[in-house]
Amino acid sequence: MVQVMVEDEPIAVYHTPEGFYATSDICTHASQSLTLGKLTDCIVACPKHGGKFDVRSGEAVAMPCVMAVETYPIDIRGADIYIEFE
Ligand code: FES
Repeated sequence: MVQVMVEDEPIAVYHTPEGFYATSDICTHASQSLTLGKLTDCIVACPKHGGKFDVRSGEAVAMPCVMAVETYPIDIRGADIYIEFE
């Protein structure tokens, strides 16, 4: 996973066994960067308190996280990855 900046917003881009996904790179629990955590399959673990999110849906799947993280559609064109960001 890697952090990219889009219009001053940190976005996390994940390469998973199911493909590429993008979410906000700000944990909804206490604003930690998720890309500093650990990605296992499609689940990212926040390094600060261990909360987890499913990067496909943004859904919080482990406490203390309860609010979903925002997700962004990905479009792959050749070797380039585009993030739909509004
Ligand atoms: S800041 Fe991410 S789990 Fe607390």
